[in-house]
Amino acid sequence: MINKPTIALVTGAMGGIGLEICKALESKGYTVIGLYHKNYKSQNWNSDRKLDRLIQCDINDESSCSKVIGEIVSFYGKIDILVNVAGITRDVTFKKMSSTDWGDVIQTNLISLYNITHPVFNNMIDNKYGRIVNISSVNGHKGQFGQVNYSASKSGIYGFTKSLAFEGASKGITVNSISPGYIETSMTDAVPDSVLDSIKSQIPLRKLGTPSDIARTVLFLVDVDASYITGEDINVNGGLFMI
Ligand code: CAA
Repeated sequence: MINKPTIALVTGAMGGIGLEICKALESKGYTVIGLYHKNYKSQNWNSDRKLDRLIQCDINDESSCSKVIGEIVSFYGKIDILVNVAGITRDVTFKKMSSTDWGDVIQTNLISLYNITHPVFNNMIDNKYGRIVNISSVNGHKGQFGQVNYSASKSGIYGFTKSLAFEGASKGITVNSISPGYIETSMTDAVPDSVLDSIKSQIPLRKLGTPSDIARTVLFLVDVDASYITGEDINVNGGLFMI
């Protein structure tokens, strides 16, 4: 390793889980650059922090991503840690699902992984060091009524993670995923109460998780000492689904 790993890039930085991950990384002394979509206000996180660490970027736009990442690498010299958090839902039964509901979710949750990860991974190869964590979902493992699009995208993340882990292994780069269960965020707020109650009753721990539950797991995986864990998925779901 050339330099101490300090620079972390997080997508979906203004979402419930992404924001918590940014804060957790900052609290451990990492320099955190958060990417967020223009539809999300840069709330909560930015008031006492430098604006240049919070960058508006559409992860679906490959040229914007490569420009932004080029600028980050020029300024900071490297990216040590990448946490791919950005994701959306368009929950609807498959019978009623439009091709837009399908395409938007697959595009944002899966296809966009290329746009961010490709330039970052190549920088990590140059530095012979990297930690990549992709946020999947319990529903990528088990499926969910009304989430054919979302579950397909989140399952795709496992193949992406494991294959990239093979390629990163000889370069000092680990690639892992985390599969959150139902976490207290605006995404679960949007689930009808009756459905959420039914899901909660199936969780052995009988409660939703918190964004901190996920952030703590990210901290574990991105640690310099987590060097022998790669191609792995960690379930953080209160026991909702045990593999
Ligand atoms: N299993 C089997 N059948 C079900 C069902 C289920 N879980 N839920 C509903 N149905 C049935 C209903 O009984 C109904 O049957 P009939 O037509 O025979 O009456 C039919 O399916 C239609 O049900 P709804 O009227 O509820 O359908 P809807 O179109 O109004 O809503 C939905 C469907 C949008 C998918 C709604 O159920 C929903 O929002 N579900 C939540 C999905 C979910 O868990 N999303 C997770 C979001 S959080 C997240 O994604 C983060 C993460 O990573 C975990």
